[in-house]
Parts: sequence; C-alpha cells; structure tokens
Amino acid sequence: MSTEPFIECHDLIKLYQDEVSGLQVPALRGVDLRIEKGELIAIIGPSGAGKTTLINIIGGLDKPSAGYVRVGDIIVNKLKGKALTRYRREYVGFLYQLPEKNLIWNLSAIKNVMLPMKIAGKLSLGEQKKRAEYLLEKVGLLERKNHKPYQLSGGEAQRVGIAVALANDPYILLADEPTGELDSATTFQIIDFFKQLNEDLGKTIIVVTHDHRFANMTKRAMRIQDGRVTSFHRAVDPNLPSVDREEIVYVDDHGNLRIPEDVRVKVGIKHHVKVEAADGYAKIIPVD
Ligand SMILES: Nc1ncnc2c1ncn2[C@@H]1O[C@H](COP(=O)(O)OP(=O)(O)OP(=O)(O)O)[C@@H](O)[C@H]1O
Ligand SMILES: [Mg+2]
Repeated sequence: MSTEPFIECHDLIKLYQDEVSGLQVPALRGVDLRIEKGELIAIIGPSGAGKTTLINIIGGLDKPSAGYVRVGDIIVNKLKGKALTRYRREYVGFLYQLPEKNLIWNLSAIKNVMLPMKIAGKLSLGEQKKRAEYLLEKVGLLERKNHKPYQLSGGEAQRVGIAVALANDPYILLADEPTGELDSATTFQIIDFFKQLNEDLGKTIIVVTHDHRFANMTKRAMRIQDGRVTSFHRAVDPNLPSVDREEIVYVDDHGNLRIPEDVRVKVGIKHHVKVEAADGYAKIIPVD
C-alpha cells in the first residue's frame, strides 16, 4: 500500500514570456515529483534545466502554467493573498547561494534570525530571542550572535542563513545552490549540517546543487534536464547512502528515455542505436 507523499508535483509546466523575442520559453515541461516527509533530496542538473523554477514553485514564489504542487493537503499553486503569505512564512524556509540574499547586512546574526519571527508576530520578544539563540546554537554560532554578517566568514554567514530559514519552524527547507560560493572544507561542513538538521529536526529538505559530493550524500538525487526529471540517483543499499550509487532513468508513456551522457560517451552512442529485447533486459547498441 502506498501512502500519499508529503510533497507531490504533478505534470508541472512553466512557460516564461521572453521579453526580447516575445516567445514563450518552456522552463518546466511536465515535472512529476514525489517527496516523503523528512526526506533530504538533492536536485541536480545543468544550468537552465529548471531547478530554480521548480523550487520557487514548490515554495509558492512562482506559479506553474499548468499542473499542480500539493504539500500536505494544500494545493500550493491555488493559494492567494493571506493564505499564500502564510504558506510562504510558515511552511517553507528558503536558503539562497549568496549570503547577501539570506541576511540583512547591517543587522546582527541574532536580529537576522529574529526578523522572520517578528514579521510572523506569533512570539513575544523574549520568546523570539530564546528561539533565535536556540537556532544559533544549533548552527554552532551562538557565541557570534552579535556579529554582523560582514564580520563572519562565508560558511558562518550561510549557517546564520540556515537559522533564519528555520526561524518560523517550517516543514520544508528549500536551498538553491547553498554551497556554490564556499570552499571545499566549508561545503562539507554545510553538507553534514544539512544531514544533521534533517535527522534531528525531521525537516524535509530539497537542495539544488551542482555539487556531486552533496548529491551523493542524500538517499535520492533527481536529475533535471530541459525542464524534465530524466533520472534519479539512489544508493544501491539505502543504509549506505554515500557509498554505492545507481542511476534509474525514467521512461515516459511513449517509451522515450534519456541515456545518461557518461554512458553515451563510454559506449560511443551518437544518433542511432539498435534496441534488442533479451531475456529480462534490453540491449542498446550504437550504430553510428
Ligand atoms: N523570469 C524569467 N523570464 C524568462 N525566462 C526565464 C525566467 N526565469 C527562468 N527563465 C528560463 O527558464 C529556464 C530555466 O531557468 P532556471 O532558472 O529554473 O534554471 P536553473 O536550472 O536554476 O539554472 P542555474 O543552474 O543556472 O541556476 C532557463 O532557460 C531560463 O532562461
Ligand atoms: Mg538556478
């Protein structure tokens, strides 16, 4: 028996109007995605694949041209006005690549973390402070709470950004290239930290990343190409997520699939193949 996943994207299509040519540019061409509660999932794919568009739609920052996103029993793309504001504030936390986008530069770390709580207006000032300190402790920066973002390193600023994203205790954390600007050691720290948050606080985390080290540490990594989910990577043994990975390629209703580039290169597939049925599997043989 399969139960409903926490997040479900169904046949998401997004067309943007190109201002220069006036033509419609497809950013998403029918994305189906199911994410369980408490899952940490990576989204990988080349530049322009539609990754940011997808997480913005899940986060209620953008609307699809067709299809829907359901989170719990909320149809996100149908939300308007106050309900939409509430969803963005209480259901999702965002973390972007550049600390400047996550933090207000002339506010201390603790004031940055308190700000979303202040806007939500649910906690007293004392409670806001207490929660901000708890979150800064979680990200290992309590002793730097009075520092302003420019007095912190890139990795520290990003950790404050995580505390800001978690301020209103959202169900979902959406991170768009959170380690793009960081060096290798700091990237590893942030990766570990996401895993810990995921395990300790049970947050559902979706991370867009170009970083394969990151993608290899999640149980699943979805690959998006040209606005479609083309395959996913998963651990061969789910108990050992970082060791052995396999790539599972989607086949659509017409039988189309996308042969991964590394495989095409390795066996010399260019424009034509023979597909032969064998006993329990199919052979794909290059004929160029
Ligand atoms: N506001 C917009 N107006 C027009 N086209 C857009 C807009 N936003 C995105 N696009 C186009 O939609 C496609 C997907 O963009 P998106 O930003 O989602 O890609 P991405 O996978 O996040 O890429 P990157 O890794 O470079 O951040 C691209 O072709 C992009 O040019
Ligand atoms: Mg992007």
